[in-house]
Amino acid sequence: MRMILIGPPGAGKGTQAESLVGSFKIPHISSGDMLRGAVKAGTELGLLADRYMKAGDLVPDEVVIGMIIERIGAADCARGFMLDGFPRTRPQAEALDAALKAARVSLDAVVLIEVPDGLILERITGRRSDPETGAIYHLKFKPPPPELEGRLVQRKDDTAEACVARLDKYHRETAPIVPFYEGAGVLVRVDGVGSPDEVFVRISAALGAAPAR
Ligand code: AP5
Repeated sequence: MRMILIGPPGAGKGTQAESLVGSFKIPHISSGDMLRGAVKAGTELGLLADRYMKAGDLVPDEVVIGMIIERIGAADCARGFMLDGFPRTRPQAEALDAALKAARVSLDAVVLIEVPDGLILERITGRRSDPETGAIYHLKFKPPPPELEGRLVQRKDDTAEACVARLDKYHRETAPIVPFYEGAGVLVRVDGVGSPDEVFVRISAALGAAPAR
């Protein structure tokens, strides 16, 4: 299974990916996680990406495209992958398309998780993640176990100001790639409003898979 999760910031892409990779046994490739890893490691890529990410801007295409195309060429992606956060511009979608064609493989599904703008800010500002396991929580919607509370962190770009910028970028740059995948016949729209479990069942049903974790 080669699939992509698309949706606005806070739509639940990371949350759903955590569950879906268990069903499909494929690697979860999050461009945001890879970039945050580079920032944490203080690499040249990380120093560059940090400036854009903090402000809620997109990291330049030429940087992100190389990073992801190299990653999906790794041995563990030979039988599939789940991309989360990539592509998010038309040039990224075209570069992915060209790389897949060159490898003589194709996408099975592009899942668009739809959540209205009005719900995004609360999801983003309440998010906390566990730096040790990568697990994603929400102070109200998915409260962490009390014993983990002390080690959870908030992302630098989860401020109200950066959230508005990210949402704006989503509508300007990422939403326009939806018709690209609709035209290719691989787009699956899923309502992202409801509990994470409800959304997981909808995605599994849309993909024709039994919801197993
Ligand atoms: P990235 O990390 O990809 O962030 P994003 O797309 O903005 O998405 P998020 O991770 O914020 O949200 P999500 O949809 O995964 O939601 P989550 O499951 O965590 O990118 C960050 C930055 O990196 C970008 O701004 C850009 O600078 C750069 N970047 C990354 N990729 C790039 C690319 N391809 N090109 C250029 N730049 C790139 O859920 C959010 C919260 O809501 C959580 O607290 C969760 O518990 C909660 N929640 C989840 N589901 C539900 C539900 N159903 N009901 C209630 N709460 C829920």
